[in-house]
Amino acid sequence: MVLQPQLKILISHDEIAKAINRLAGEIMTDYQGKQPLLISVLKGSFMFTADLIRHLDLPLELDFVRLSSYGAARESSGKVRIIQGVKTPIKGRDVLVVEDIVDTGITVSFLLDYLNKKKPFSLKLCTLTDKLSRRKVPVPIHYRGFTIPDKFIVGYGLDFDEKFRNLPHVYTLED
Ligand code: IMP
Ligand code: MG
Repeated sequence: MVLQPQLKILISHDEIAKAINRLAGEIMTDYQGKQPLLISVLKGSFMFTADLIRHLDLPLELDFVRLSSYGAARESSGKVRIIQGVKTPIKGRDVLVVEDIVDTGITVSFLLDYLNKKKPFSLKLCTLTDKLSRRKVPVPIHYRGFTIPDKFIVGYGLDFDEKFRNLPHVYTLED
């Protein structure tokens, strides 16, 4: 694949695979005997979700939500909208949200509030990456792949202006 010079590998696909193994182990231990409902946040989490659930030997169900995104900007507007809500009933379910990245935390905390109103039995969050130094709203992260520096990342599902989602590794996008 022809790569652009401003892309530098931050997390290789190998490291991602190892993290997914570890996270899947933690999740399987915690959800033994349960039938969790995984909610994957589109679009960025699609690749992570697909790889993660292949390692989960649980009778899980999967649904998707789509939230408003940044468009072509790298900064969140701070206003979140639900573009596609959850179709599966959530009341009484063990719900696990699967995210690609938690940055300021504004998006996912909005989502967690929205889901909590539907009265799940439990509600947890799994994220591949955590840009912890940028947090503006506290977010409870139960399963975390990587804590990453304050850099814009792309690849492995994550985009900049809808580009780079198909790349196998996670890269930083340098100016
Ligand atoms: P937050 O509301 O600031 O936590 O931003 C969450 C959303 O912003 C994520 O779900 C991503 O869609 C997007 N985002 C934040 N940081 C990055 C990044 O470094 N690369 C790509 N998308 C990002
Ligand atoms: Mg996301």
